[in-house]
Amino acid sequence: MHSIGIIGLGTMGLGIAQVFAQAGFPTIATDAHAPARETARHRMADALQSRITAGKLTTEARDATLANLQIADTLADFAACTLIIEAIVERADAKQSLFASLEAVVPATTILATNTSSIPVATIAATAKHPERILALHFFNPPTAMKLVELAPHAGTSAQALTLARQITEAAGKTVIQCPDRPGFIVNRCARPYYGEALALLEEGHPAAEIDAAMMAAGYRLGPFALIDLIGADINLAATEGLSAAMQNHPRYRVFPALKAQVASGHLGRKSGQGFIHPAKTEPKANA
Ligand code: NAI
Repeated sequence: MHSIGIIGLGTMGLGIAQVFAQAGFPTIATDAHAPARETARHRMADALQSRITAGKLTTEARDATLANLQIADTLADFAACTLIIEAIVERADAKQSLFASLEAVVPATTILATNTSSIPVATIAATAKHPERILALHFFNPPTAMKLVELAPHAGTSAQALTLARQITEAAGKTVIQCPDRPGFIVNRCARPYYGEALALLEEGHPAAEIDAAMMAAGYRLGPFALIDLIGADINLAATEGLSAAMQNHPRYRVFPALKAQVASGHLGRKSGQGFIHPAKTEPKANA
């Protein structure tokens, strides 16, 4: 069985570690911040406990998942991993420097994957000794519930790294779609106009709840405002600003004042208790 490494135990990293540990992979994880390392096992146990309470997991499966998880203090402990996924801060220099440190301790064949949302994979690979082993595996939030993983090679990624990364991620139960190394990959890019047109309608005076109701009745699983409330208006704004900058401020990725005002008001959605339409009469499911 391939060993999987996860660097960064925040929102995404902990969930990604759970995905692999739950699928039976020996999973080793770390974080630069000691409290994140110290609380990781408990946080994962709590997440697994909610699945047990919901009748979706057995206690045996929980115990097996936690037994597959090892929390490490140093990068040297990642030497035996086949695939290492970083989910650290969204900064190119931090990701480049992490991969440089990893390259000093892992064999040349170890695949180094980034979970970046907006940094070109080619930029992250530019300073690597072995750029052919670098690619993106972009998970969605929450990683345990969201089936999709976008797989993005840069121009120099090897076919072997691409194939093995796909095989391992599919074996962990995910649907893997290959994407171009372009800002926003596929989903975040296509989603921008969905939010944007809804925000434009809102600015024209149309109520958010009605826009959502129309889109859902038309067959979309979640309306644009329910989605922003679920993701967090601040995260949505950061993603839009990142994509807009990466696309030279193209009007297709315009940052709407209504979204900025929402963030400024502190009504970020579910996490703050109030959003564009949250709390709604019928709450969407987290994995919808
Ligand atoms: P987060 O802030 O929740 O977690 C990041 C973790 O990385 C923190 O615990 C921090 O202590 C740790 N860290 C920072 N620098 C480090 C380093 N050099 N070495 C080891 N650990 C380090 O961030 P989040 O939301 O989990 O995002 C992580 C990555 O995933 C980012 O690249 C982000 O763009 C991407 N992403 C985020 C999504 C989201 O919805 N939050 C969705 C998809 C991708």
